[in-house]
Amino acid sequence: LFAGETEFLKGVVAMSGLPPADRVEVCFAGRSNVGKSSLINALTGRKGLARASNTPGRTQEINFFTARDIYVVDLPGYGFANAPVAVVEKWQRLLKQYLQGRQTLRRVFVLIDARHGAKAVDEEIMSLLDSAAVTFQVVMTKTDKLKGEALKVSLDKTRAALAKHPAAYPEILLTSSEKGDGIATLRAIIAGIE
Ligand code: GTP
Ligand code: MG
Repeated sequence: LFAGETEFLKGVVAMSGLPPADRVEVCFAGRSNVGKSSLINALTGRKGLARASNTPGRTQEINFFTARDIYVVDLPGYGFANAPVAVVEKWQRLLKQYLQGRQTLRRVFVLIDARHGAKAVDEEIMSLLDSAAVTFQVVMTKTDKLKGEALKVSLDKTRAALAKHPAAYPEILLTSSEKGDGIATLRAIIAGIE
């Protein structure tokens, strides 16, 4: 998360391909196109590090990056992807296995588009994390697309939705990968996770 110190390690398509669970790990989850890869690029200050695009389903593997002594993980999106159903189902299965079964996963950042709020698929993932007792923190993305008042309404709604999730970290982050808002705060949060 520190410019010049983050490198791509590998893309994983099966649980057997995961690197050894030997260090702190954080990951970015969220619906397709919510801005996971863009956020990693903003955090690292390296535009092309994680592949981002306007095509939902761009990220198709669990991508591991090393940042200092931690793993940062970019996940395929859930909910929708421009790919055959069987392929999407395979990713979703892997995604769930990973989120539930990774011992060293310290925090999942669940990204939610500030314009759209939490959808049913987000609720599903948050409930899965509750069951697995994996702490997650909501990050609202693309805040540059909303005006102040609309952003506040969206934030209040999301906060209310979190109340029923025991694994939710109470602080919601507001970010814009485009404008850089909230990026330094998120970087500091990640650096502080042990
Ligand atoms: P998948 O890999 O398909 O799951 O998508 P993703 O969640 O990784 O999204 P990605 O980072 O590829 O971004 C999707 C689109 O949203 C791209 O066209 C980005 O340029 C755009 N985008 C991402 N973050 C922001 C932001 O903060 N503001 C604005 N305006 N656009 C953004
Ligand atoms: Mg992506």
